[in-house]
Amino acid sequence: MIVADPAATGRVVADAVCRLLAERPDGVLGLATGSSPLPAYRELVRRHRAGEVSFRQARAFLLDEYVGLPPGHPQAYRSVIERELTGALDIPAAAVRGPDGTAHDLGAECAAYEAAIAAAGGIDLQVLGVGADGHIGFNEPSSSLGSRTRLKTLTARTRRDNARFFGGVDQVPRHVLTQGVGTILEARHLVLVAAGEAKAEAIARAVEGPVTAMTPASSLQLHPHASVVVDEAAAAGLRLTDYYREAYAGKPSWQGL
Ligand code: GLP
Repeated sequence: MIVADPAATGRVVADAVCRLLAERPDGVLGLATGSSPLPAYRELVRRHRAGEVSFRQARAFLLDEYVGLPPGHPQAYRSVIERELTGALDIPAAAVRGPDGTAHDLGAECAAYEAAIAAAGGIDLQVLGVGADGHIGFNEPSSSLGSRTRLKTLTARTRRDNARFFGGVDQVPRHVLTQGVGTILEARHLVLVAAGEAKAEAIARAVEGPVTAMTPASSLQLHPHASVVVDEAAAAGLRLTDYYREAYAGKPSWQGL
């Protein structure tokens, strides 16, 4: 769906989250970090403060985490999500889980994370951003489309893209834990959000290109319920924009995202 600006992407994604929690107050959310979902998170915090939505019974799983940052490091995704979203909601801290990048046995941690998602009944709604290289979570190009939560090495490009959060590329960790593409594809509804011209090529490849491990976001084409929410700038590389606009304009209101 193509909307005017980042704030509008936030309203659309927030609508989908609120709709899920209205139907299922103990719904399981999959949360992405990065700048793309921030308008949605701000909108959710606003609605929560206005008494429009409660997360008291909700549960949440993060997509990914850096390896080796000390607990409580401001750029650890566990800290970021608490600062940007969950700390401002009524979701219990214990109901928000992420892969533990400080674990001694990272392989065991990844297996335990998969088991925790399964024990929660799976993820109902997974919010996703997309890297400029087409990655989702931290599944860099060439990640197996069947991959599970595991250790990955970041590409130089992703480390450069994320250097702004660390005060220099040398400070960006080389390794991460991330839900695999196969893990992500098991969520019942995928909502990928992107804004800005820097994402236009990745969005075009993800939505209209071939399904390929070189563009992990293209795996959404295999999912039975995947929504892509973009602003005009991120939509600039798409070919079927007239069709997408017409389909969205004519969407029945009962259908949701
Ligand atoms: C990081 C995260 C991804 C995110 C991507 C894009 O690599 N691991 O989950 O989608 O950045 O970030 P941004 O939304 O800031 O462009």
